[in-house]
Amino acid sequence: MPQSLLASPRLSASHISAATTHVFHRQLQHDLPVAVSGQGITLTDASGKTYLDASGGAAVSCLGHGHPDVLAAMHAQIDRLAYAHTSFFTTEVAEELADVLIESAPTGMSHVYFVSGGSEAMEAALKMTRQYFCEIGQPQRRHFIARRQSYHGNTLGVLAVGGNAWRREQFKPLLMDVAHVAPCYEYRDRAPDETPEAYGQRLVAELAQTIERLGADTVMAFVAETVGGATAGVLTPVPGYFKGIRDLCDRHGILLILDEVMCGMGRTGKLHACEQEGVVPDLLAIAKGLGGGYQPIGAVLAHGRLVEAFRYGSGLFQHGHTYLGHAVACAAALAVQRVIRRDDLLAQVRARGRTLQGLLQHHFGEHPHVGDIRGRGLFWGLELVADRSSRQWFDPALKLHARIKREAMALGLMVYPMSGTVDGRCGDHILLAPPFIASEDELALVVERLAMAVNRAIPA
Ligand SMILES: Cc1ncc(COP(=O)(O)O)c(C=O)c1O
Repeated sequence: MPQSLLASPRLSASHISAATTHVFHRQLQHDLPVAVSGQGITLTDASGKTYLDASGGAAVSCLGHGHPDVLAAMHAQIDRLAYAHTSFFTTEVAEELADVLIESAPTGMSHVYFVSGGSEAMEAALKMTRQYFCEIGQPQRRHFIARRQSYHGNTLGVLAVGGNAWRREQFKPLLMDVAHVAPCYEYRDRAPDETPEAYGQRLVAELAQTIERLGADTVMAFVAETVGGATAGVLTPVPGYFKGIRDLCDRHGILLILDEVMCGMGRTGKLHACEQEGVVPDLLAIAKGLGGGYQPIGAVLAHGRLVEAFRYGSGLFQHGHTYLGHAVACAAALAVQRVIRRDDLLAQVRARGRTLQGLLQHHFGEHPHVGDIRGRGLFWGLELVADRSSRQWFDPALKLHARIKREAMALGLMVYPMSGTVDGRCGDHILLAPPFIASEDELALVVERLAMAVNRAIPA
């Protein structure tokens, strides 16, 4: 532990006290353990206690912690050049990273706009969309359509597009008007006599009606997470859903913006989750797994058609941040992406994903309070219910998600439980997003500890 912390009266044992810290933490009433080191899938706190990181923080740490190749690449870049403002220079490392990302991007994507995280990526995608329509002489297009129960980040633009009622509530007076349609939430919304395909087409029809209501030539884009992440607990799309959406958007000249900040960059077993849906978006937002948490970095991959409109129109994107394309962030992301390719980690995600699915089925398949186990690759959600047959959720006042997180942390396990699964207020789920490098034994230990944590947290 650093001497400054040891000497500090604010630190009692391994925890920082909420009463005395000067950091404006997310939660102002809770003490927090102090993380001091990380290696592989394990984090260690100041008391020496270890935690298995089964959620990669928030689906970030795809290579785990302390990966030597990534650290070496960052050190080398810092020694050469840490930062050069992008209005004066480009850097070799940003150019190289963009080349790597475009080589492996869905067909037609031609350029990468670098930012520092997921919200910035989505915010940039929204503004790119609006400017694109101005560039091509359709300034009357002004509406975004998104989905309920989605999460696209916390800045005001993307919060407006996001569909999580609780997160939006107090900021509503500040948010632009966005139309929201139903998410693809098979467990709760597919009728018993409906096939998954028919359910998907029902959702596409709902979007078609919304487009018609707003006026097709006023709609700019439909925005969705390819696999829904944090707010509804890993919602995988039904077959044909995104193809139907893509066709509908094309018919009306509407863009498709896919948010793969959480589900992308290999998490579902393909580099981009949209590959599994057989669609190519116009704009694709990535972040978390791009840099694996070694540096803050996100990006928007843009279709060539859009980029051409900017190039032959005004010639500039009227946007920008100070840290766009930060050299050390690009070096970290480049190293992460090279390791994924060199070590064939996408195949490993698929194989370990099958192991994890089997373990979850074994421990929770018949669990009276686990209603649904869903996911892909190393991205899994467990939806918790008070009663399996009625699918009734637990009383939100119980704060089951917080109890599970507490119990899991006590057992040395990091998972990502969340409430509001059903409608932003009711329901609880647990999200798992372990590093791609997790071994089978580590995954077995994760699920064992999780089963213990869930059983301890659920009231008798
Ligand atoms: C799908 C999705 N989009 C956007 C974001 C926002 O990313 P950030 O927290 O890096 O701003 C998140 C974060 O969880 C996310 O899951």
